[in-house]
Amino acid sequence: MNEVLVLYYSRHGATEKMANFITRGVESIEGVQARIRTVPEVSEVCESVADSIPESGAPYVSLDDLQECHALALGSPTRFGNMAAPLKYFLEKTSAHWLSGTLVDKPAGVFTSTSSMHGGQEATLLSMMIPLLHHGMIICGLPYSESDLLTTQSGGTPYGASHVAGSDNSNAISDEEKRLCIALGKRLANMVAS
Ligand SMILES: Cc1cc2nc3c(=O)[nH]c(=O)nc-3n(C[C@H](O)[C@H](O)[C@H](O)COP(=O)(O)O)c2cc1C
Repeated sequence: MNEVLVLYYSRHGATEKMANFITRGVESIEGVQARIRTVPEVSEVCESVADSIPESGAPYVSLDDLQECHALALGSPTRFGNMAAPLKYFLEKTSAHWLSGTLVDKPAGVFTSTSSMHGGQEATLLSMMIPLLHHGMIICGLPYSESDLLTTQSGGTPYGASHVAGSDNSNAISDEEKRLCIALGKRLANMVAS
């Protein structure tokens, strides 16, 4: 069975909710399943090491997950218009895969959650693509045949799925955001369906 790695970081749960809808899209395609993974927090105390198994939620990602999966959906909250440090910290540990070309030609898509509508979703999504391009991945956005892109009053971009969570992070995922998350998962899965 071909697998799409759904790898995300989420402090308050919004990006995690998006990951669940992307997973739903992936698993709607026959013969493809999602492997959901997250990353530990980074600590200001360099010696502090997280437990190897999180207390709840998705397991922590390993370098083997990148090797074994056929496509990647990468999600992060927006932090000052960029991806969050824990996810970037993990990506900076992938040099061996860069050297060996493990990710070359694998499809990848990105998703993000922000508190505000114009708080840098596109900047974050574009910056998340950069390390994936260095790895030789094939970047997969959302096409305008997804008509929600034309009408959404919340998140959703051609660069990837997005969610406007609100200043207290309490907004539910809107119908448009939900459909676009599912569409991104489906699109990645279709690319690796055998
Ligand atoms: C350090 C920091 C920087 C942030 N920067 C932005 C930002 O640039 N634009 C924005 O709209 N929201 C920003 N936020 C808010 C988060 O992106 C938002 O709350 C997001 O929905 C959190 O996702 P999560 O629930 O998956 O953790 C920031 C939050 C933190 C803690």
